[in-house]
Amino acid sequence: MFNLGILISGRGTNLENIIKFTEKNSNNINITSIICNNPEAYGIQIAKNYSLPLEVIDHKKFQNRENFEKEIDIICNESKVDLICNAGFMRILTSWFVDKWFNKQINIHPSLLPSYPGLDTHKRAINEGVRFSGCTVHFVRSKLDSGPIINQAVVPISPDDTAESLSKRVLKAEHIIYPQAIKLIAEKKLKVIKNKVVYNNYFSPKEFIINPTEIN
Ligand code: GRF
Repeated sequence: MFNLGILISGRGTNLENIIKFTEKNSNNINITSIICNNPEAYGIQIAKNYSLPLEVIDHKKFQNRENFEKEIDIICNESKVDLICNAGFMRILTSWFVDKWFNKQINIHPSLLPSYPGLDTHKRAINEGVRFSGCTVHFVRSKLDSGPIINQAVVPISPDDTAESLSKRVLKAEHIIYPQAIKLIAEKKLKVIKNKVVYNNYFSPKEFIINPTEIN
């Protein structure tokens, strides 16, 4: 069994997509813990709909970040989590937590990193006239939205795109690449060497190119 802990803060579409992926694939990937820091998040309802183990840990109730993170650490250890997946988790983590889960915590970000870390990625990309956006799954490091890149999807930007229309297409791509990254890690198909992801076998870049018809 390969156990996932999912951290969320919001609407939870990536969470639901990962749940469906684990249900569809009888490949021993299991969600043993869902943790949400925002008591108002819609994602809580999703976890409940699927009757999965859920903890709502309101970060505002803690005096400092480390005490909040200690709770997450305890839950993930108790539920024997092998990999933490941040799925729209909006808290910056201290290096204490990042080091504890070094190469065992991944995040999805709605841009082609290292371009556009942080917030408002779609608006910034459109304003600067870039032609391609996309999304990235990467291992978590202390610096925000940095860390070894596992996989990415490219989403073309059209002249009439708004941040909203682009975000919808990028989200579809997110839902393709996040399970792909989880599967690669669960199946031990990659390593991190000198802060870079190296695949054990050669994968044709074609395997990481998403057919635009899937995301239009
Ligand atoms: C996604 O766009 C993800 O890339 C970013 O936060 C958003 C979360 O969306 N980190 P959802 O809660 O999974 O729907």
